[in-house]
Amino acid sequence: MQSQYLCDSHKKSLMTKEVSGFSKLTKSQKIDWLAQHYFQDKEQATQTLVSYWNSDEKLQQLHDEFIENTISNYYLPLGVAPNFLINNKRYTIPMAIEESSVVAAASKAAKFWATRGGFKTEILGTTKVGQVHFTYTGNAKQLQSYFSDIKPVLFSEAASITRNMEKRGGGIKDITLVNKTASISNYYQLHCTFETLDAMGANFINSCLEQFASTFENGFLKDPRFRESGDSLQIIMSILSNYVPDCLVRAEVSCPVKELSEKNIEGAMFAEKFLQAIAIAEHEPYRAVTHNKGIMNGIDAVVLATGNDFRAVEAGVHAYAARTMQYRSLTHAKIEDEIFTFWIEVPLALGTVGGLTKLHPLVRWSMELLQNPSSKELMEIVAVAGLAQNFAAVKSLITTGIQQGHMKMHLMNILNQLEAQPEEKQKTVQYFKTHTVTHSAVVDFVNSLRTA
Ligand code: MEV
Repeated sequence: MQSQYLCDSHKKSLMTKEVSGFSKLTKSQKIDWLAQHYFQDKEQATQTLVSYWNSDEKLQQLHDEFIENTISNYYLPLGVAPNFLINNKRYTIPMAIEESSVVAAASKAAKFWATRGGFKTEILGTTKVGQVHFTYTGNAKQLQSYFSDIKPVLFSEAASITRNMEKRGGGIKDITLVNKTASISNYYQLHCTFETLDAMGANFINSCLEQFASTFENGFLKDPRFRESGDSLQIIMSILSNYVPDCLVRAEVSCPVKELSEKNIEGAMFAEKFLQAIAIAEHEPYRAVTHNKGIMNGIDAVVLATGNDFRAVEAGVHAYAARTMQYRSLTHAKIEDEIFTFWIEVPLALGTVGGLTKLHPLVRWSMELLQNPSSKELMEIVAVAGLAQNFAAVKSLITTGIQQGHMKMHLMNILNQLEAQPEEKQKTVQYFKTHTVTHSAVVDFVNSLRTA
């Protein structure tokens, strides 16, 4: 970047790591400031960022405006896992993820189950939650009586926010007053439930909650009961909850035990070991966390590809896994009458309208690949991706071990680190079809090619 064009205050800010008004600098000035303060090779640091800018200026501007202080784009690979049969419909699932072997594992599991009836899913609920947290000093019964009086007004004063959602069949489901004074003195909440249809609903819910808080507080201040008693009410905050145990989907696969037989393992032995592995993840938190991490490999990748909020999903899923006060597996398995059944129940608050869904071209592309699903259908697809991923991981763990497949997929990363040329890559991949991949074995092999 050209520091001779910088104004004096910007030149001064280049001397110190403290900066004010950073957000007002242009993108180039921001990069310049970073390069000057944090990088040895300033030209290289700048070039790395610039090389990830999109040559289509309109597309780049779109990305620049998603967040604040954008300096470049951070790419993740977008892959696809074909051959998913879900409720008798074929899908190719988009997955945005950097970890090698995740897409391959999903594709393998999809193929395996497509010949055994495919995945079956069921939506168990779509209710979202939000809360107004407040403190109140006074008689709890009096507050309850005030709440009963004001409840219809909470609905009516939010009408301008809820009108469109109601027209489509959604809206506020209920509002209850919860006395939490046993945990924190004077603490109460309005616990609110919502149906947000195809929207993830964060904006809708938060707007409703802020309106409830204002209606509730204003009504309180005007109410003679409280003016006389001198009781006080303070709104602390109004915010949706990412814990959505009633926005729940179930996905399942099943087949006769004998159909689980593979080259080196009988179906009955496979099923027995599989059930044991699931039981361990249901009871042992150290294993449960890794087991669920594998599930999230599938879930997050589809959530990201479809422009949904993976942090919200992660937080809600892990809270759900710990709902019995012990962190447990999200998947379960059983054998009944020689039928093996494997399933997941997972809370997923997803949207197929709003947010990034129409804005980000790759999200739009991913949605079209999925044939523009409703949010319920997307919940089903995402749950299936999690179940498939978990099936593939546990299958590897109880048979070949995880490293064999993983290192094969990781081979390309090692080759890229070594800056291998196409011919070297091709020879190395061929060699490791019959040899065990380790980092040092790959380095040795590539060196042997280079010195031959
Ligand atoms: C790695 O990303 C995921 C696994 O560790 C999951 C598991 O252990 O079930 C393979």
